[in-house]
Amino acid sequence: MSSTTAGTPFPAETMRYIRAQFAQLEHDAHGTARLFFENSGGSLRLRRATERAQEVSLCPESTSRPNEAAQRLARVQHDGEADLLAFFGGEPSGALLHTATASQAMFTVVRTITDNVPGTNIVTTAIEHPSSYDACARYAERTGRELRVAEPDTSTGGIDPAALAALVDTGTSLVSVIATSNITGAITDIPAVVAAVRAKNPAVHIVTDAVQYAPHGVIDAAGWGIDAVNIAPYKMFGDRGNAFTYLSPRLAALDHDRLAGAASTTWNIGSAAPAMYAGFTTIMDYLATIGGAAPEVGRREAITAGLRAIHHHEQALLHTLLEGTTLRPGLRALPGVRVHFADQGIRARDLIVPLTFDNLSCADAVRAYGEHGIVVYERVATSHYSARILHALGLEGIVRVSPLHCHTVEEAEHFLAVTEKIARHAAG
Ligand SMILES: Cc1ncc(COP(=O)(O)O)c(C=O)c1O
Repeated sequence: MSSTTAGTPFPAETMRYIRAQFAQLEHDAHGTARLFFENSGGSLRLRRATERAQEVSLCPESTSRPNEAAQRLARVQHDGEADLLAFFGGEPSGALLHTATASQAMFTVVRTITDNVPGTNIVTTAIEHPSSYDACARYAERTGRELRVAEPDTSTGGIDPAALAALVDTGTSLVSVIATSNITGAITDIPAVVAAVRAKNPAVHIVTDAVQYAPHGVIDAAGWGIDAVNIAPYKMFGDRGNAFTYLSPRLAALDHDRLAGAASTTWNIGSAAPAMYAGFTTIMDYLATIGGAAPEVGRREAITAGLRAIHHHEQALLHTLLEGTTLRPGLRALPGVRVHFADQGIRARDLIVPLTFDNLSCADAVRAYGEHGIVVYERVATSHYSARILHALGLEGIVRVSPLHCHTVEEAEHFLAVTEKIARHAAG
């Protein structure tokens, strides 16, 4: 049995339960054995979340009708909204926006703030996902504002709150900052960003993309003091085709697209989709179960206990990958392999390992992993999703390794053994 010294892996019994919940954990849809270390591109699915969404989808009723079946659906949606508020740590007087993608929500939020809040500039960072960066660029241009872009810290792969706040002044209407980079895995200290930004301009609207962060850490929208935060369930054990955003009370109240008869703080336009809320509630049930909090605690405490347990397990996996175990050397010790942004420890890092090989292109490395039954993905500068971010970090590409909390230390060791083999083969 190997051992690792950071984080706390789930107890064996909890791990057995966790692994039984995920579909296609060890085999793809066609029965081919594989290790899925590409969860940042779309995570492994909780079987029950998809099944529950399908059960609800089978009901033809509309939540607005008075019959019992319809009212049950309305309750499903109501429970889902309560769970979203608990998950986001939002204020009850805030609003929720349901969209097909997280990107759509980000464009809506950025446009609404730009339409309503006067200012001369918008501040964002060079490592934002295009959904927020491009929305900021587009609405800055349309309203004649300056777009100010904070460069990342190239040693951490993340954003230094002081560097971001240095761009803020009394003319700043909006700051958009990513909670965790989906390329480097660096976690932004959002409370520090909010404090530094508001010290320069207390009125700034602050928007956070938490799509990568959400499956690995606790969001505290009200505690952090942010105005909008979005997530995509397909990155956190759920289905594709839906995304949720929390809006602070002051943002919710801004004039926005809505049906004339809707309440002034309603942001959803058109019919409800209770199946999406049912899937989300099932994910929250799962987090509450694995968190193991006492039954009498509130829903938010139960959910956050699950997220904290995930974080501890994932820190153990990250430590195993970087530093190895008693059985295997870690990535940082392997000749011919470079792990980026890992010199400062794992505390402010998500379970993403960006690496390159000295003697192998990223595309060839991904192919080699595939031949060994491991799915990873390359983020390269030829993709418009990655180019700006990679160049800001001084890179042309990385192999992105993104396991999930349902993976074990032993699977991480297997990954290390395969990586050693690939690096040795590449060196000739
Ligand atoms: C960090 C981050 N933000 C936003 C998005 C966009 O999500 P969606 O595909 O739901 O628009 C992604 C998707 O890759 C992402 O990784």
